[in-house]
Amino acid sequence: MSFTADRLLLFGATGDLAQRMLLPSLCALDADDLLHPELKIVGTARSDLSTRDFRDFAREALEKHLPSNRRGGIAQFLNRLHYVPVDATTPEGYGDLAREVGEYESGLAIFLSTAPSLFEATIAGLEHAGLTKGNVRIGLEKPLGTDLESSCEINDAVSKAFPEDRIFRIDHYLGKETVQNLLALRFANLLFEPVWNATYIDHVQITVAETVGLESRVAYYDDSGALRDMVQNHMLQLLALVAMEPPTSFDATAVRDEKVKVLRALRDVDRDEVVTGQYRAGAVNGQAVPGYDEELGKESDTETFVAIKAHVDNWRWKGVPFYMRTGKRLPERVTEIVVQFRCIPHSIFQGRGARTQPNRLVIGIQPEENIQMTMMAKVPGLDRDGLRLRSVPLDIAMPDAFSGTVRRIAYERLLLDLIEGDQTLFVRRDEVEAQWEWIDAIRALWGENGIVPKTYSAGSWGPSAAIALAERDGVSWHDD
Ligand code: BG6
Repeated sequence: MSFTADRLLLFGATGDLAQRMLLPSLCALDADDLLHPELKIVGTARSDLSTRDFRDFAREALEKHLPSNRRGGIAQFLNRLHYVPVDATTPEGYGDLAREVGEYESGLAIFLSTAPSLFEATIAGLEHAGLTKGNVRIGLEKPLGTDLESSCEINDAVSKAFPEDRIFRIDHYLGKETVQNLLALRFANLLFEPVWNATYIDHVQITVAETVGLESRVAYYDDSGALRDMVQNHMLQLLALVAMEPPTSFDATAVRDEKVKVLRALRDVDRDEVVTGQYRAGAVNGQAVPGYDEELGKESDTETFVAIKAHVDNWRWKGVPFYMRTGKRLPERVTEIVVQFRCIPHSIFQGRGARTQPNRLVIGIQPEENIQMTMMAKVPGLDRDGLRLRSVPLDIAMPDAFSGTVRRIAYERLLLDLIEGDQTLFVRRDEVEAQWEWIDAIRALWGENGIVPKTYSAGSWGPSAAIALAERDGVSWHDD
């Protein structure tokens, strides 16, 4: 049943995500009058704060994280905020929370941005306080487990209190504008679909490169590593959107049905199809940075880089590799998808000395949002020394093409969808489980073969074996 919540309950309200993303997103939505006029936001965490303290805390976070031109609505937004301290592990405190939430006339949206180890106790507390009854939906932030088994445990615990159509699993990549634009590109244009298959596409590359290192997340990251932190969720979602069949409509069931088919069609990776790395001291953007082990203060086998050659075993993608790589402390921050088309079957220009290059589609997700198609064009001239062709880009810079529109961050979109109840951009249980199954098999392979990360210098594109992984197939990573 669809409803727009008039209460939002935020667990983990003093955490890093709340400060950097959730509070700024809600404040920006409020400033644009996109929130229910009566929406009351109740924050909770273990810290012993009053509502007044929490509002001060939120003001500080908003002043730090909202761009200066979007700070106008802070005072009005703070009035929506309330706070109740709760130790999520004990049932006490949930009664106070329920009293603060009060009657929800249209509905309640709950957002759990806490350690997954607290999920079960939190759900029990919510049930105990009657906060799972009626129009209530729940949003869950990653990580949803560390493998298939633990993910099933979390999903089982949540599904005892909430049906699947009330569970909103966040993958913030799905809230990014250019990620959704991938669907528009594929399914709102006639041009691409007929050539979007193994007959015309040579391979696909998906890169999510970061310049940052461990940041302040030492314990979490060292237990997780790049495969579980980035590939299991964001990168597999990107792959699924690139590879899925056309859904019948842009609706939650239709889109997720198609994504899950792709995730289930992923072939188990062979030993020589995966490379892992861990950064050592180096320089990123001209700044000297320490190695992972130095940042961590001890030696570790956790991978900060992973490159994988994946295959989707179905008719459409037979024989088309999907090269994926992600890492920390790489030379630049870039997320992009490259669709490399095959060569033309016959060149009429060969006799005139001209060489052709295959078309390439590059979908830039961040920091630049753009779509670029490289096309062959004739170099102007009289061609007395032979005809010359050159690859030139057809470029759409999204911010220029849509200059009058507000660019929103992923959490603005996702929080509004949670409040209003649209599940299209949230991950369904069967998707998460298919993702974990594939990832678990890779981790088992590492275990069986004693694979430990190779080192790479911070500021490089990962271990040389990652370059070799693609070059063995005559493919170069798109690094320019
Ligand atoms: C998070 C990961 O899910 O995504 C982080 O836990 C990573 O390690 C982040 O830095 C990247 O998100 P974005 O939106 O900055 O690409």
